[in-house]
Amino acid sequence: MNNDSSSQSQRAASSTADRSQVTVDLGARTYDIEIATDGWANLPHWLKNWTERFPHWKTDHPQGVVVTDSNVGKLYGEKLLPPLREAGWKLEKVTVPAGEGAKSAEQVSVIYDALVDMKADRKTVVIALGGGVVGDLSGFAAATYGRGIPFVQCPTTLLADVDSSVGGKVGINHPRGKNLIGAFHQPMGVYIDTTCMTSLPDRDYRSGLAEVVKYGVIMDANFFEELENNVAALNERNADVLRNVIAKCCRLKADVVEQDEMERSGLRAILNYGHTFAHAYEALSGYGELMHGEAVSIGMMDAAILSEKLGRVDQAFVGRQRQLLDSLHLPTRLPQELAKPAEDYIACMRLDKKSVAGQLRFILPTRLGHVETVADVPEELVTETLQEGQS
Ligand code: GLY
Repeated sequence: MNNDSSSQSQRAASSTADRSQVTVDLGARTYDIEIATDGWANLPHWLKNWTERFPHWKTDHPQGVVVTDSNVGKLYGEKLLPPLREAGWKLEKVTVPAGEGAKSAEQVSVIYDALVDMKADRKTVVIALGGGVVGDLSGFAAATYGRGIPFVQCPTTLLADVDSSVGGKVGINHPRGKNLIGAFHQPMGVYIDTTCMTSLPDRDYRSGLAEVVKYGVIMDANFFEELENNVAALNERNADVLRNVIAKCCRLKADVVEQDEMERSGLRAILNYGHTFAHAYEALSGYGELMHGEAVSIGMMDAAILSEKLGRVDQAFVGRQRQLLDSLHLPTRLPQELAKPAEDYIACMRLDKKSVAGQLRFILPTRLGHVETVADVPEELVTETLQEGQS
């Protein structure tokens, strides 16, 4: 399969001095991603705007459930809720435990209970305030309650800003598999407040940067170069640079989602560059040992090395990717203490949702800004790659 990732239309985000906007164009499910630095001061304005966009959402009695977690709720709950209440919103708040464990059927039930208690109807909005876990969980509750009610993402981590809050993938974990139960349910809007970056712990921030680098490698060589030229500003979390970078990532992701919303043509799979290796590392290390973005960073190096072994890229490509990840203080090798035999990782990769009939599939680069899905990779090259990545 050959998905020409680099030939996607790369439209620019629209920007003014203090905000950027990206539109995800999906017909009746079209929505805006608002990227601002205002502590969500304009959230009531945008919610009104979004709910008035389609007649079935318009209401004079706006109500919603804000879902957050025990960490984020303390930091931002009192910032986000009061202006909405002042604007006439009737709100309930659900606080789930922080961490991956909250992506469970039990916590979905807690959100359903709150919706039932407040007599939610099809205009009631689920507002996710948090990182990827809160977004995926809340979105799944919104996708299934009443066969689908509107939801809004207010992501608070870099990883959620540039990846999980955009594109409508929502879901929870099954005790035997991550993200096994889910749906596609596009948000009504996404409101990214980049001031959240200032309080993000270092590892979470860097984990998000791995997904940022991913967009450059898979779709946009100029963006990759821009990241190389802005390493110092990114390491210092410069607000203007971050807003611009987040907007570009959202635009790139929107370009993919607009063309393959339900991941059917294979194009959307390019977003999983590095993820086949990463998911195996996460699963076999015990979830939580490696952050998702750290595993993706190591996985992207494996994919680049595998691609070099197949003669698809040269050593200079691999070196350039390593250099950028290194300079952003991301891991490029699996820590020795987490290393397992290569066959264990390969067995795990065969169970990945993306594998077909147990056959391994990798997203591999052929040049900067371009990747392809490759299904016929000799297993010994995967073994070699895994062994070299642990030595
Ligand atoms: N995170 C991959 C996707 O949204 O398709």
